[in-house]
Amino acid sequence: MRKKIVAGNWKMNLDLQEGIALAKELNEALTAEKPNCDVVICTPFIHLASVASVLDANLIGLGAENCADKEKGAYTGEVSAKMVKSTGAQYVILGHSERREYYKETPEILKEKVLLALANGLKVIFCIGESLEEREANKQNEVVKAELEGSVFNLSAEDFAKIVIAYEPIWAIGTGKTATAEQAEEIHAYIRGCVAEKYGAEVAENTSILYGGSCKASNAPELFAKPDIDGGLIGGASLKCADFKGIIDAWKK
Ligand code: PGA
Repeated sequence: MRKKIVAGNWKMNLDLQEGIALAKELNEALTAEKPNCDVVICTPFIHLASVASVLDANLIGLGAENCADKEKGAYTGEVSAKMVKSTGAQYVILGHSERREYYKETPEILKEKVLLALANGLKVIFCIGESLEEREANKQNEVVKAELEGSVFNLSAEDFAKIVIAYEPIWAIGTGKTATAEQAEEIHAYIRGCVAEKYGAEVAENTSILYGGSCKASNAPELFAKPDIDGGLIGGASLKCADFKGIIDAWKK
C-alpha cells in the first residue's frame, strides 16, 4: 500500500528561531495526537540541523527544499545532497515550479539533482504541474508527462520507488485558487497511468502522488478522499501549527 503523506514546504519564510518554535509546536501536537499519515516538513537549509534535533524522527520526517546539481567542490553558496543528508534530513523537494521558473532549473539540471539526492540516501518529492496558459490550452497532461520523462523516468524501478510525486498546478500555488477535487483526481489518475506505462502497475500502485496548490484544512478532506490523491504538499498553510495540523487531520475524516 502506498503511503499517505502531508508535507510542508516552508519556502523562504520563518527565521531560525521561528522555525525551531514551529517544529517544536508541531512535534508536541503530533505526539499528543498521532497522525493517520506520514508527516514531513521541508525547511530552508539553515534550519535543518536545528529542526532535526527537536523532531521525533519516528513521527515527523524532515526535508530540504532544494539541493545542488553537483556532488561537491568549488560551487560557492551551493548545498550538496550529502550535506542535506548529514543534517538528519531524509527528504528533498526537487523540481518545484518556483525553482524551475525563478532559478531556471531545466529538466537536465533536475535529473542530476534527483540522481545525487538518491545516491545520498534522500527520498525525493518531485514536483510537476502546468501553468495557467497550458491548462487553458488543455496541455496539462502533455506537460506533466514531459516533466516526468525529462527528470525521473530515466531511473530504475528500484530508484523510482524512492520518489514521491507532487502535482502542483502553477496557477493554484499561493493564489488561493485550488484545483477542484475532480480536476486534481483526473490528472493524478493520468500521472499514475504514466507511471504504470513506464514501470508497471505494481510500481504505479505504490507511488504516492500528492496534490499541492492552496491546499488548506477546508479543502483537504475533499481532495484526500479521491482515490489517486495520496496527500498534499502544503506551502502557506504549513507555516502555522494549527493550519498544518488541520490538513493532517483531514486523513481522519
Ligand atoms: P501553497 O504552496 O500551499 O502556498 O499554494 C504549495 C507549494 O508551492 O508547495
